[in-house]
Amino acid sequence: DKGGHKHFMAKEIAEQPLVIGEAVRHYLSADGNSVELPEDIDFTSINRLTMVACGTAFYACLTAKYWFEQLAQMPVEVDIASEFRYREPPVPGGTMALFVSQSGETADTLAALRYCDGKADKIVSVVNVAESSIARESDLALPILAGVEVGVASTKAFTCQLTVLLMLALKAAEQRGTLSAEDIADKLSALRGLPAALNTALEQDGVIAAAAQKLAETSDVLFLGRGLMYPLALEGALKLKEISYIHAEAYASGELKHGPIALIDKTMPVVVMAPYDALFDKTRSNMQEVLARGGKVVLITDRKGADDTSGDSWRTIVMPEIDPILTPILYAVPAQLLAYHTAEAKGTDVDQPRNLAKSVTVE
Ligand code: F6R
Repeated sequence: DKGGHKHFMAKEIAEQPLVIGEAVRHYLSADGNSVELPEDIDFTSINRLTMVACGTAFYACLTAKYWFEQLAQMPVEVDIASEFRYREPPVPGGTMALFVSQSGETADTLAALRYCDGKADKIVSVVNVAESSIARESDLALPILAGVEVGVASTKAFTCQLTVLLMLALKAAEQRGTLSAEDIADKLSALRGLPAALNTALEQDGVIAAAAQKLAETSDVLFLGRGLMYPLALEGALKLKEISYIHAEAYASGELKHGPIALIDKTMPVVVMAPYDALFDKTRSNMQEVLARGGKVVLITDRKGADDTSGDSWRTIVMPEIDPILTPILYAVPAQLLAYHTAEAKGTDVDQPRNLAKSVTVE
């Protein structure tokens, strides 16, 4: 049942305020001031976190790396499951291995988990399908509670993965004493406000659809982002190529000069994701470098970022202001809608893109 939407993907994008609200409530303590897990993890005895996944779930892990490092001061490694399993890396004592998978059945991720069995101190998974192999074979499985995801391109599972990973990082920060109780309560209160912000983001649908009409006419798109926006740029590019078949790639904004700037010309749209945060100035100068070469910029930012660059970009998509830690979850919505409307404009099969399967149970 598409619930009145044209595609499952559109329905699943629209469901995000609801399912994320539920995930937040699920992992919140009764007083709302701390995170509660179904079973305790001792983060003080863990000195290294290794996160492994494929595709969109891998980008959720890349995002979570910033959170675990910044909030909980934990050393973090992130790996693609198909690389990790055959590289057979050392897993030293004190390692927690964390596997992220919507389906819980991805062959490479499951094999990576089995490789860590007996080596890692603790195996934790973040899954949507609670009865899956990955959930069963972990010491602790944390459900993301996104509900069934039908669209092959992951949307609500990605943002629910992010939500659960952020709450896990906050739990680690609490135990390791790297954030004060007050700071944690603050972040959790911001998380409770996230569904309202997501609804505001969804209201930008018309502006995003208009920009997508233009993207649909191009053959290549570049995505740029810094800090927490870098993994999201990767996810935005993946979404666009999966469902619209437009070639898209993403770079950390600081890498622009080191190669991809050679691609910039009048025909090349560049999607820049940049909330007005501590890194905004840096990204703005990367944007200027694109503009100086005739590149077309689609800027996804907030009011302050839009005012600060007024008139420079070709299209500006304005997100509500939010705690900077939450921007990957919020900015996922315009990234998804941009891909969705571009595919719609091209008339491709949004829910069942060619050559892709929802669950990759063979390598
Ligand atoms: C992208 C997408 C895939 C999956 C990947 C991992 O939209 O859906 O990249 O994220 O195949 O799948 P799971 O999360 O089921 O392990």
